[in-house]
Amino acid sequence: MDLRSHYLGLELKNPLVPSASPLSRDLDTARQLEDYGASAIVMYSLFEEALHSEHEHQMRLLSQQEHGHSEASNYLPLGSLEGSELDNYLEHIRRLKSSLEIPVIASLNGISLDGWVDNGKLLAEAGADALELNVYNVAADPMVSGAEMEAQYIALLRELHQVVDIPITVKLSPYFSSLGHFVKQLEAAGAKGVSLFNRFYQPDIDVDSLRVSPTLHLSRSDDVLLGMRWLGILHGRVDLSLAATGGIHTDEDAVKMILAGADITHVCSVLLRHGPRHLRRILNGISHWLDDSPYESLDQARGVLSHRQMDNPAAYERASYVELLSGYSPNRSSWR
Ligand SMILES: Cc1cc2nc3c(=O)[nH]c(=O)nc-3n(C[C@H](O)[C@H](O)[C@H](O)COP(=O)(O)O)c2cc1C
Repeated sequence: MDLRSHYLGLELKNPLVPSASPLSRDLDTARQLEDYGASAIVMYSLFEEALHSEHEHQMRLLSQQEHGHSEASNYLPLGSLEGSELDNYLEHIRRLKSSLEIPVIASLNGISLDGWVDNGKLLAEAGADALELNVYNVAADPMVSGAEMEAQYIALLRELHQVVDIPITVKLSPYFSSLGHFVKQLEAAGAKGVSLFNRFYQPDIDVDSLRVSPTLHLSRSDDVLLGMRWLGILHGRVDLSLAATGGIHTDEDAVKMILAGADITHVCSVLLRHGPRHLRRILNGISHWLDDSPYESLDQARGVLSHRQMDNPAAYERASYVELLSGYSPNRSSWR
């Protein structure tokens, strides 16, 4: 079966790419992912916060060495600046690149411009085949407009694009008021792809301890629908690689995303839950589906149910919402 897929200028043997997660931290697990069929891998993110706090720590160490007693400086050798988060990340890229045949996509996670984007260049030099930029930000300040947030992301991408010579893709949240327009701006600023959608982790309230705490729930298959709609709307309208992330647990989920227009399908929660072997199961399912379908390759099937290709594109728009809500009738037999 011809499952070849193209993503960010890379030719991949199939569309299944594990997205950023702790699974890429361990070399053996990464090898297993490759053995079970992953066609590329996105690394866990290098977080801006980690680099910033490390920088502050280094500055503190240096100033203690400059101003402290000679005795104290013996306890704080410069050697303790080595093995930084960034160094470890660069080293891990090199290790993954030398152990795996598949492309390795590095991931930067941050939103500010103060210099940390230069590290993107180092990731490329360490051998990453592409770079995913995750702009996870919660617009919690009511004085900041959507336009300002968008401008900040575009500025960040532009700066990165200037220093990095590998393809950059942007992992987006679903909370943009005109997603297509924003994606067009990303394209103009140098993005080669977008990944839809970043999963936001919601805080929860414990009503007994009266505390707010973050929660992490793995996704479910139903979660694919949000990304699927937008992939369907964007397919054929932008000249960008489209990655689907969020809720892909089965071959059926992956096929839906491809029919809507995804170039590749990311998997994360399902692998955290069932392990790397599960990749093979999804891959076999996609092959069987293709075998039974009227298509000879995945490329032929890609986007056939996108907004542009459909006889009834209203299914992606408001019309279906109105029909659904007004046509819904509750199951009265289950009422008590
Ligand atoms: C435990 C865990 C760790 C993750 N780490 C990262 C990360 O470092 N960077 C990132 O961009 N996304 C990260 N993600 C998000 C996933 O890559 C993925 O986009 C998201 O979970 C939706 O896909 P899924 O439904 O297949 O899980 C993480 C997700 C989980 C559950």
